[in-house]
Amino acid sequence: MARVVITEFMDERAVDRLRARHDVLYDPKLVDDAPRLRDEAARADALIVRNRTQVRGELLAALDRCKVVGRLGVGLDNIDVGACEARGLPVIPATGANALSVAEYVIATAMALLRGAYLSTGEVTAGRWPRNALSNGREIGGKTLGLIGFGSIGQLTARLAQGLGMHVVAHDAMMDASHPAHAQSGVQALALSELIASADVISLHVPLVDGTRHLFDATRIAAMKPGAVLINSARGGVVDERAVAAALKSGHLGGAALDVFEAEPMPAGHVFDGCPNLILTPHVAGVTAEANERVSFMIADKVLERLS
Ligand SMILES: NC(=O)c1ccc[n+]([C@@H]2O[C@H](COP(=O)([O-])OP(=O)(O)OC[C@H]3O[C@@H](n4cnc5c(N)ncnc54)[C@H](O)[C@@H]3O)[C@@H](O)[C@H]2O)c1
Repeated sequence: MARVVITEFMDERAVDRLRARHDVLYDPKLVDDAPRLRDEAARADALIVRNRTQVRGELLAALDRCKVVGRLGVGLDNIDVGACEARGLPVIPATGANALSVAEYVIATAMALLRGAYLSTGEVTAGRWPRNALSNGREIGGKTLGLIGFGSIGQLTARLAQGLGMHVVAHDAMMDASHPAHAQSGVQALALSELIASADVISLHVPLVDGTRHLFDATRIAAMKPGAVLINSARGGVVDERAVAAALKSGHLGGAALDVFEAEPMPAGHVFDGCPNLILTPHVAGVTAEANERVSFMIADKVLERLS
């Protein structure tokens, strides 16, 4: 029987599947107790984390007997994958398991931001009836969606957007126009500058690496169409938050939805205070009841396979 240590929240039934075969420590608060986390890591044959546990440095050094790291999600920026590989420790992400949740988040926020009419409850109940002010909302059908990063989430988002009559274009650093994903999806490949200049909605689906840090800085935001909408459900740091706030306040950006931030949790009194047409969510684009179940069972099964 192996020792499985789970440091962040996981679907309870998937935890039970692990418990049926192994000795499991499931403590969703372990991530916040660094000394205990290190002690438990030293006894772990398998470690299961979400996005907050930093698998690097001292924690990685403590994983002496660990045979596998399961990641309840897909972004690997909280894990020193190179160092894990160097010591023969496989890292298993839940590839594709939360893609639909993120894709739906992109479509829902794009529709809300373009239309700009769904947050009027307070005014309507107060008897102000803001019908004139809210009569200039935009439809999503016929608009151009520019996807930056055309991997699993980008491709699924494209399918949903096409179903709503959007024209979809994409830019991916590792895929040129001849990549089969373009022919299969009917999504046109564009150079980054062409995409930025032509899209009504830009959605980011790239990992946070040196080449994508502040990919959306003041210059690229200024090159977007006036009134266009920017959505970041990828990773904090891919957009320059100050530049987004300034472009919203100047009116150049027509709206923005951000699920991920340079610092999470975001500190109070942030540059986003007072920005118009802005949707901020606490890193939940990929977290729904269904996605949590899919992600948890996928990782439970893959960890069981590694331990067998
Ligand atoms: N907010 C959330 O809850 C949540 C949930 C799931 C995933 N994510 C994030 O979404 C992102 C995408 O996830 P995915 O599953 O689609 O990943 P993926 O690996 O399938 O696709 C990422 C794509 O980005 C491309 N890419 C890398 N660098 C690029 C660059 N400089 N310019 C353009 N393209 C580049 C890659 O070639 C790849 O095709 C990741 O950052 C992940 O962490 C967030």
